[in-house]
Order: sequence, then C-alpha cells, then structure tokens
Amino acid sequence: MKVQFTETVLRDANQSLIATRLPYETFAPILETMDQAGFYSVECWGGATFDVCFRYLNEDPWDRLRKIRKAMPNTKLQMLLRGQNILGYHHYPDDVVRKFVEYSVKNGIDIIRIFDALNDVRNIEVAVDEAVKWDAHASGAISYTTSPVHTREKYVEIARDMQKMGVQSICIKDMAGIMGPQEAYDLVGSLKDALELPVVVHTHSTTGLAFMTYLKAVEAGADVIDTAISPFSGGTSQPATETLCYALKQLGYEVGLNEDRLKEIADFFKPVRDQFIADGTMMPKSMATDTQCLSYQIPGGMLSNLLSQLKMMNALDRFDEALAETPRVRADMGYPPLVTPTSQMVGVQAVTNVLQGERYKKVSSEIKAYCRGEYGRTPAPIDPEIKAQILGDTPEVEGRYADTLEPQFETAKQELGEKATCDEDVLSWIAFPQIAEPFFEKRKEQEENRAVYTIEEME
Ligand code: CO
Repeated sequence: MKVQFTETVLRDANQSLIATRLPYETFAPILETMDQAGFYSVECWGGATFDVCFRYLNEDPWDRLRKIRKAMPNTKLQMLLRGQNILGYHHYPDDVVRKFVEYSVKNGIDIIRIFDALNDVRNIEVAVDEAVKWDAHASGAISYTTSPVHTREKYVEIARDMQKMGVQSICIKDMAGIMGPQEAYDLVGSLKDALELPVVVHTHSTTGLAFMTYLKAVEAGADVIDTAISPFSGGTSQPATETLCYALKQLGYEVGLNEDRLKEIADFFKPVRDQFIADGTMMPKSMATDTQCLSYQIPGGMLSNLLSQLKMMNALDRFDEALAETPRVRADMGYPPLVTPTSQMVGVQAVTNVLQGERYKKVSSEIKAYCRGEYGRTPAPIDPEIKAQILGDTPEVEGRYADTLEPQFETAKQELGEKATCDEDVLSWIAFPQIAEPFFEKRKEQEENRAVYTIEEME
C-alpha cells in the first residue's frame, strides 16, 4: 500500500496563513533539502502567488519559478490554474490560456492542477489540451461543495469528462475543508471504481475534519494527499506533513518520505513562522479551528469578508441576516461552489440584498455577467424569475463564452513594445496590467542603475 504527499508550504499554506507573503529569498536556503524529502510534488506557483509577487514582493513570478526549478531538479513542481481564468478573475481568450500554459511548463512546471469554479469542464479543456501538448501532467480538479445537485454521481460524471480530455489524475479540491471522512471515503471509492486515474485529495484544516478525511480517503485508495510542513500547517492551511507521515506509516503504508529531511524543513520554517506571527501577518484566527463553516456551508474566508464588508457599511448588526441570506443567494444562482470568484460574488450580493431591503434591486456587474453565462454553465439552473429581473434585455451567452473572445496575445505584445522584454512579460501584463507595468519600469530602472555601476567599476 502506497500513498504519496504533495507539500504545500510554498503555495497554499503560504496563501492560506500569511496571504502569500513569503519572499523567495526567505525560503531559498531550504529548497535543496526539500528536493531530497521524497515528495510526490511541491506546490509552489499559481493561485495568488503570481499576483502577490508583483503587488507586494517586488518579484517577477516567472523568475521565482525558474529559481525554484534550478534549486529542485529532482522534485515535480506543481501549480494551481483557474482554467479559463488562468490566474485572474475573468475569462481570457484561448490563445492567452495556451501561451500561459506553454510558458509555465517551459519555465519549470511539471504538474498543472486545473479547476473551474463552476465545474464547467469546457472551461478547463483548453488548458488541459495545452498541458498535454507540452508533456506536462494535467490534473483535473473538481471544486468540492455540498448542495442538492452535487451528488457523487455528478462528481464521477465530471471526472469522466476530464479523463476523456486527457488529464493524468483527478483531484478532489475541498477549498473550504467541509468534506467529512465518510464523504471522502465514498467519493474516492467511486472515482477509483469508475476511472483508471490516480486520485489526489486536497482539503484544509479549517473545520478540523482534515486528518480524519485524509485517513478515510487513503483507506478508500487515494493516491496522493496535500499536506503542509508542521510550522505552516493547521487552521486555514493543510494538516501537517510529519503527522500524516507518522500515522500512515504506522498503519503500514509506504509513504516514500525522508523523515530526517522533514525535520530539517520544519526546523527551518519554525523561525520563519514566528517572524510572521511577530509582525502580525499570521493571525491566531487563521490558526484556529472554526466549525461555523459546517453549519453554514460557507468557507471561512467568506465569513471574514462578510464581516469586513458590513463593518465598512456600519451595519454589523445585520450580520445574522446576511449570513442567512448567503445560502439563499447561492441557491438562486444555481448552487455554485464557493471558491474564487463565485464566493466573492455571492457574498457581496447577500450583503447588498439585506442592506437594500429588497432582493436583487442592485446587482454587481459580475453577477450580471454570471447570469449571462460568462462564467459557464451553473450546476443547477439560475432561478428563472430572478434571472429575468437581473438580465432585462441583456442577451445570454450561447455556447462557451471564451469562443466569443478575440485573441489577445499578439495585440498585447505589440501594444507593450519594448516595455516587455520577453513573452512572459506579455502574459504578466495581460493577467495584471496595473501591477505588471510599474514593475517593468522599476525593473528597468534597477537594471540601468546596475549598468552604470558596472561601467564605473570597469573604469
Ligand atoms: Co486549497
């Protein structure tokens, strides 16, 4: 019996506990050790890392990836991609998705975990196709949620579609940590029965279920689990790597991990974590167990967003109403899984409905786009009356939204001209124009200063 581990400290743990603020220079010294630990893969890129590198860390995310690749030649590097949204919050044209996948692989990524917020497989098809073309491992991720329409049969059907597209593994992505041990056991079992693919399970410790969930998932035949090295584990992050290694070995599983290396990695990250606690980046709240998500079926991050939104509006006393309105909006919208960007859209609408005193009197442009079908097919139909009220005369999207988008890469490249020094720059700019451009300017300045310095040195 064998089970393998994906280490998340550089991406999901980093994102969930300290808002992705870990700079490359901080973790660089431990990469060589991590390379010898025997991980199935190290998740190190995608999700919010790309955005945050530019916005807060003054780092080129592509450069970060190349450096990690060089320091870890023996370990598979993994990234998280939001399908047709790549790393942003709306749909991009196919040529951009393809270029993004191509350059991710060329810069060092081995495994691309691809998901869609609505589980509309048409939104991951192009990314999967391109990953396969470049010999990368495309992992099809199911956004896990619970609702009357999210049955085990439905999940198996989604996974089957993904298998047909050519994914090499299926991942159950439980972003809110709400999947219980029995649900995990049943779903992993069904996927293993129905498909010929390895099954990866991803959850969060938020509600405290994660250790039990992983154990039952492994018993049902899960091939890979996502964990975080202990100093960056627990709470909104993943459960600890060392603990699961210990427990699963005791149960007779072959885990392939080097425990001495794990200890070195943990020793390295302890003072790093303490630093983030000391400066207030890592908050006790994100380290704690929060079972509210189990009763409300609302991810932890969304609860804190609701709170801060109401606080801004001076309406904290309406919290209970907003909380009760959230599942109603989600039902009206056809039960989308609550993950970026649908979680933000549903949360904002619930608060608006409560504060306006009339439901859907005001809607965001995102909700309108959602009702038009710009985000894809919803799990269940949107309530027809509400949809009619929101859309008015606005026509709905027919077919797949990205098919209506003009190619963007070449025009962006021309527009940028010399500001972009490579195709990766063009992609950075397409994904995050407002933050990539100042970054390019700063980088150029730094390089020019360096050049002057070199000339002086030569003299
Ligand atoms: Co996650």
